[in-house]
Amino acid sequence: MNINQALFVGSSERVTQKPKALHPEFAFIGRSNVGKSSLINCLCNKKNLAHISSTPGKTQLVNHFLINESWYLVDLPGYGYAKASKTTRQKLEKVIKEYVNLSNEMVILFVLLDSRHDIQKIDLDFLFELGESQIPFSIIFTKCDKSGTNVLDSQIKKNKEELLKYWEELPPTFLSSAETGLGKDEILNYINEILKSTIE
Ligand code: GTP
Ligand code: MG
Repeated sequence: MNINQALFVGSSERVTQKPKALHPEFAFIGRSNVGKSSLINCLCNKKNLAHISSTPGKTQLVNHFLINESWYLVDLPGYGYAKASKTTRQKLEKVIKEYVNLSNEMVILFVLLDSRHDIQKIDLDFLFELGESQIPFSIIFTKCDKSGTNVLDSQIKKNKEELLKYWEELPPTFLSSAETGLGKDEILNYINEILKSTIE
């Protein structure tokens, strides 16, 4: 599948404020700075659609991008930015939790994990909550261009083994790079398959 048209439709803090035109939503979450907004831009072939920053905490609201006039990519704020004030962190957590739990149109939540690092407690806790709430998710390891092949392979293997301590099987898992476009086709094809199955 190709993205021919990507339009920013609106930012919302509450789920009641999201765009009125309802379409299937594919949302991106993960720790602050993991590369959510960059990956959305990469999927859409646009540099500045979603705002990115080298400083964590850039995305503060839920941003809806209408794709090919028929579905949304949703950019969420990141969780776990240690340097943010407690008030800011709590506010962002509330925005995230409300969207994730109450947005009826969300089909899949892509949980982004940095391919260079061990999975952190905050990520596992977030995944456990998704499991408890039975929210369907997939995993994307980001920034794969930043490591050499061997280092990348062994870190991904380690991270998958860590996840398999808690889940009997892994959800669909992707490797990505917003720099090189790695994973782009796989992620878009996966979305396309889900869209096709929701229409049938
Ligand atoms: P918040 O909105 O703050 O939660 O962050 P985010 O997850 O949206 O991250 P964002 O896309 O803003 O990217 C954070 C930083 O990582 C930016 O400096 C990006 O240029 C960089 N970055 C994101 N993805 C990649 C990638 O695949 N490869 C490399 N090399 N850098 C990346
Ligand atoms: Mg962002």
